[in-house]
Amino acid sequence: MNQTVSQGVPLNAPAYVKNAKLIAWVADIAALTQAKDVYWCDGTEEEYNRFCGQLVAAGSFKKLNPELRPNSYLAVTDPSDVARVEDRTFICSDRKEDAGPTNNWCEPAEMRAKLQTGEGALFKGCMKGRTMYVVPFSMGPLGSPIAHIGVELSDSAYVAVNMKLMTRMGKGVIDVLGADGEFVPCVHTVGAPLEAGQKDSVWPCNPTVKYIVHYPSTREIWSYGSGYGGNALLGKKCFALRIASTMGRDQGWLAEHMLLLGVTDPQGKKSHIAAAFPSACGKTNFSMLIPPEGYNGWKVTTIGDDIAWIKPGADGRLYAINPEAGYFGVAPGTNDLTNHNCMQSVLRDTIFTNVALTDDGDIWWEGMTDTPPAHLVDWQGKDWTPQIAKETGAKAAHPNARFTVAATNNPALDPEWDNPAGVAIDAFIFGGRRSTTVPLVTEARDWTEGVYMAATMGSETTAAAFGAQGVVRRDPFAMLPFMGYNMSDYFQHWLDVGAKLQKAGHQTPPVYCVNWFRKGADGKFVWPGYGENMRVLEWILGRIAGTAKGVDNAFGLSPTYEEINWNGLNFTKEQFQSVIGIDTAAWTQELKLHDELFQQLSYHLPTEMPATKAKIEQRLAA
Ligand code: OXD
Ligand code: MN
Repeated sequence: MNQTVSQGVPLNAPAYVKNAKLIAWVADIAALTQAKDVYWCDGTEEEYNRFCGQLVAAGSFKKLNPELRPNSYLAVTDPSDVARVEDRTFICSDRKEDAGPTNNWCEPAEMRAKLQTGEGALFKGCMKGRTMYVVPFSMGPLGSPIAHIGVELSDSAYVAVNMKLMTRMGKGVIDVLGADGEFVPCVHTVGAPLEAGQKDSVWPCNPTVKYIVHYPSTREIWSYGSGYGGNALLGKKCFALRIASTMGRDQGWLAEHMLLLGVTDPQGKKSHIAAAFPSACGKTNFSMLIPPEGYNGWKVTTIGDDIAWIKPGADGRLYAINPEAGYFGVAPGTNDLTNHNCMQSVLRDTIFTNVALTDDGDIWWEGMTDTPPAHLVDWQGKDWTPQIAKETGAKAAHPNARFTVAATNNPALDPEWDNPAGVAIDAFIFGGRRSTTVPLVTEARDWTEGVYMAATMGSETTAAAFGAQGVVRRDPFAMLPFMGYNMSDYFQHWLDVGAKLQKAGHQTPPVYCVNWFRKGADGKFVWPGYGENMRVLEWILGRIAGTAKGVDNAFGLSPTYEEINWNGLNFTKEQFQSVIGIDTAAWTQELKLHDELFQQLSYHLPTEMPATKAKIEQRLAA
């Protein structure tokens, strides 16, 4: 063990840590934050169980009934700390233009003064009375050429145990790092130092001050004040999307808010699809889809449910890995019909956050069963009954309640999910939550039109972030909250990745735009969604194989009624028309909104964007 003491804090580095840069950085942060002590996570089961036991003893975790939900825990957060905080998220690039108009920006030196160096800087002494956990993690299979390493320093044991489920975490990562390997430094604090004798709260956080800060040029992450997933598990949104997107721009690859699935047809032919949807729009459900009745011999397998890292291979194909090793999914609405594989995954070994507790020590959330239990303790610790809910509208689970579970619990896990080489992508799908306007599925005529479709994607907002819900906002590539640099430069990067492949004589994967969420006059979803999305997937595979022709549409190419396999589903031509049709008036309005987006993104906006819009306008007028 390395017994170095940094300004009174013993570093406790195990002998196997050889990376001098890592040790020096841990010493710096220990000195800055004045942590009580430093603990290096080894990532073992024993360690995970020990931490969970400590969280139970502290009242932060409740151990669920082992007969009903073995090896599982419930955490409930402070009511101020239930979602990502987009308005407190900063991209501190050297120049404001490089963060672009969709990000909050602050001059790096000014932000460093506020967080680290200035008088009263937030990180100074922020871990007093707390242990600082050193959490080494690999985003992607250990040693994969597509993977990258990060180290999170956090004063939250909740973070340490969630990182164990969500990433490849522990000693193995330190071994891969060796003496001089590179890592992304991530510093996290709940922002609640403890004075001597002060009693801790069950969910320590700073209810009023939060900062989620990224420095793209030095590839650093600093997170203050929140213990909630997307703000605190820094491998996920902060590293795997915001920092990785800038790494991808500089190194010629893509970091995307995409699920990855494998789909195998009855002949055994397997294809791989990458699909981007905004938060809480069903990525986890789609990645674990069970084909409906009538789809004998078809199989869908999960590679990832949230993030994909995609690098061009020597053969001119795009290879993707899921950088994560677990799922941090939205619980409400998940049930045996919407996502059976997910329900199976969370039967055991799961951390639940902000769901309700049943009287027999299990968990429940809205939508889990048709009939709710007669009594629950809700996510805020209050009694909940169906009657109380009727009278007050109280939710048993927070709408953004989550489960954290290792990917290996998923019965539909793809055999290639851990393959360091990744899987070759056969198609990209982009989809928003739109109750009107956007058709069920359309295929882009070419890569540029695909980039246009993704760039102009809109979606109705959900509970995954603080703020008004159900409002359509433009969410290019489903990356709006996760872009690490200027959005227009990102569009250009996508165009460049495609152009480079094409110039070398390769084909780019086809691009599709989908919308499962169109509603009828009765306000109900017309398309049944979930497993039935297999029908759309089959059409896409038919297009790739050349067996489905499609018809020209103002916005790409769409299937005819006859081209969709309706075996086992009663869905009329009229219903189909109502989800596939293009309403000229609605699209005229939609294109005005694309214009507004382009005005907002006018700095460096690729000329291909307005040029593609002009073509759509012409087709609409024809
Ligand atoms: C998530 C999100 O947690 O997108 O995946 O908010
Ligand atoms: Mn997400």
